[in-house]
Amino acid sequence: MTLDAPTTPFSAALRQATWARHEGVVPSEGESEPDGPGVLAALLAGELHLDDYTALHAQQFFVYDVLDEASRAMAGDPVAGPFCVPELSRAAAFDADLSMLIGADWRDRITPLAATTRYVDRLRRVCFDWPGGFVAHHYTRFLGDLSGGQAFRAAANDSYGFGDGPGVSFYVFDGIGDLTEFKQGYRARLDAAGFGPEERRRVIAEVLDAYDYNEALLAELARGMRRSV
Ligand code: HEM
Repeated sequence: MTLDAPTTPFSAALRQATWARHEGVVPSEGESEPDGPGVLAALLAGELHLDDYTALHAQQFFVYDVLDEASRAMAGDPVAGPFCVPELSRAAAFDADLSMLIGADWRDRITPLAATTRYVDRLRRVCFDWPGGFVAHHYTRFLGDLSGGQAFRAAANDSYGFGDGPGVSFYVFDGIGDLTEFKQGYRARLDAAGFGPEERRRVIAEVLDAYDYNEALLAELARGMRRSV
């Protein structure tokens, strides 16, 4: 399968071209990392302090705030529009989660880390006037949230007793029906986007960059992380 082959659906080409990079952000079992376990590994192991979970959530808010804004801005675009599903908006979920975790004044009490600022700057640069850039960043976060994100949801419920309510609403996608079917539909939208060979390459490159931005954010969070629950 080559990326250029017109018969290769874009969703498959994208996954093939980025899966090795995805594996780079997934902690491997038993592998000790130089800075200790990452935030996601600690969450999955039930060893993430609630303060660090809150910090992760707060940083993610800045990312989704821009993705939500871009979804509204791109809704009428023929390529990006089909991905702008209002039910994916995380705004209400963040409000519920961060109000509970931090307090009603959460917006005044959170600041983006340097890595978050760089990520958000990139989103602002590419998601509002380049449909392929929007799709790249939308895909990286939302298909991730609907996949591995569901393991984080389960781990957060187990560790902190959120019961799928405030605290973990960010990972709960009630408005889109069955998640597996939704992901299939999402891949069909990727296939129907009509990207030519050059645009495929650009979008794939942007997804690889999106992984870098996420990894940098997680690494900066890990440096400030508590070492015990
Ligand atoms: C501990 C960390 C993670 C775990 C355990 C994990 C797990 C998974 C799993 C099991 C899938 C496959 C689901 C399927 O085939 O339907 C998946 C897909 C995906 N994940 Fe992750 N993930 C992690 C971190 C991340 C991160 C940090 C991102 C990006 C910010 C991400 C983005 C994605 C994307 C975009 C897909 C869809 C790939 C595709 O089928 O095209 N994941 N993840």
